[in-house]
Amino acid sequence: MDWTSHTMERIPESDTLKMFDLAKRLESEGKKIYHFEVGQPDFPTPKNVVIAGIDALKKGLTKYTPARGIPQLLDAIQGYYKSRGITINGRKNVIVTPGAKMALFQGFLSTIDAGDDVLLLSPAWPTYRVMIRTVNAKPVDVCTESNYTLDEEALKHAISRTVSALVINTPNNPTGGVLTKENLRLIYDLAMDHDFVVFSDEIYETLVYDGFKQTSMLEVDPTMERTLVINGMSKSYSMTGWRLGYAIGNEETISNMTRIQQNTTSCATSFVQYAGVEALNGDQSSIAAMVKEYHARRDEITRLFNEIEGVSCVSPMGAFYVFPDFVKYGVSSTTLAELILKKTGVCCTPGLAFGAKYDSHLRFSYPVSLAEIREGMAKLAQFLPTLI
Ligand SMILES: Cc1ncc(COP(=O)(O)O)c(C=O)c1O
Repeated sequence: MDWTSHTMERIPESDTLKMFDLAKRLESEGKKIYHFEVGQPDFPTPKNVVIAGIDALKKGLTKYTPARGIPQLLDAIQGYYKSRGITINGRKNVIVTPGAKMALFQGFLSTIDAGDDVLLLSPAWPTYRVMIRTVNAKPVDVCTESNYTLDEEALKHAISRTVSALVINTPNNPTGGVLTKENLRLIYDLAMDHDFVVFSDEIYETLVYDGFKQTSMLEVDPTMERTLVINGMSKSYSMTGWRLGYAIGNEETISNMTRIQQNTTSCATSFVQYAGVEALNGDQSSIAAMVKEYHARRDEITRLFNEIEGVSCVSPMGAFYVFPDFVKYGVSSTTLAELILKKTGVCCTPGLAFGAKYDSHLRFSYPVSLAEIREGMAKLAQFLPTLI
C-alpha cells in the first residue's frame, strides 16, 4: 500500500520549521538559542479578548456556527472597514475562517484552475507557493526591487494569457516593505486590462511605522471586481493560536468559499469568533502599544545589522521582519543560517525559502525583546566578520 499521494510531492516541509527543529535540538543540548525564525507576536492576547472567549465558553457557545461566521463577527468586520472609510456588506462579502491561511487556501481553490499561472510578487511567504502548487497551478515569481518596491516593468512583462491571479502582500513577509496606493492602483488597472484576480494579503496592515498608512486593495477596487482581501486576527491582536482569519470579496467568490468551508472545517471555532468580535469592537490600545514596541525593535535591529561588516539591512515600513543581504559573504542562505545557528545560537530563516533570487538574504523576525535583540546581534557582530 502506498500511503503517499502525488499531491504530497508538491508539499515540502517548512524551511522555517526545519530551522526551528534544529534550534530546539540544540536547545535541548543546553545551548542558548535566540529565536528570530518564527513569525509570531511575543505579546499576550489582549485581556478583554481572552475574557470574551472565556465568557462565550461559559455561556455554552460551543456549537457549530453558520459556515460563513457568526453575524456579530461579520458585522464587526464590516464596522472595522467602515471606520476606515471602506464600505462592504459583512453578510455578503465576508467569510470567517480558521486563520488567514485557510482563507487563502479556500480562495485559491475557488478561483484558480489546474494549469493556471499565478504571479507572486516576491520575495514571498513560502506558503503561497505551496498552496498554488497544491491546486495544480504554477507559481511564477515577479521580483520586486529592494524592500518590496514594485518593479512595474517586471510585473507587466510577466503577465500572459495563462496568468489567472496575482498574489500581493503588504506589509510584506519577509522584507517588511510596503506597496503604496499608486502601486495598488496600477495593479488594479492591470488586473482589469488582463482579466486576472488579485489576492491581497493584508494581515500585517496595522503593524506600520514612521506614520505610514497602509492602503487596502479594497480602496482601489471597492466593488471587489478583481480583488480578494485576506486578513485576520493573528498579528494585529496577537492571536496566532486562536486561529481566526477572514476573506473579503465579491458575493460569488465568498459563496464559493463558503461551500468549501461547509464541506471541510464547517466553521471557525465558535467561542473564538466571539473573542474576535471583542477584538474588533473593544479597546484598540493594545495595537498602538505593540506597534510602539515593534518600532523601537525595528530601529535597533536595523541599526545593529548595518554596523556589521558586509551586511546591508533596509529599514522596513511594516510587519516585524528584516531581510538583510549577506551577498558579500558568498555562501548560500541555507549554509549561512545553519552556520550562524550552530556557532552563535541565533536562529533565522534562509532567504531561499522566499524565492530563488533571495539566496543571499536571511529573514530575522523581531517579536523578540530588545534585550534578546541586542544579545543576539552582539553574537552575530562577533562571529560574522570571521567569515569574510
Ligand atoms: C503573509 C502572511 N499571511 C498569512 C499568515 C497566516 O496567518 P494566520 O495565522 O491567520 O493563518 C502569515 C503567518 O505567518 C503570514 O506571514
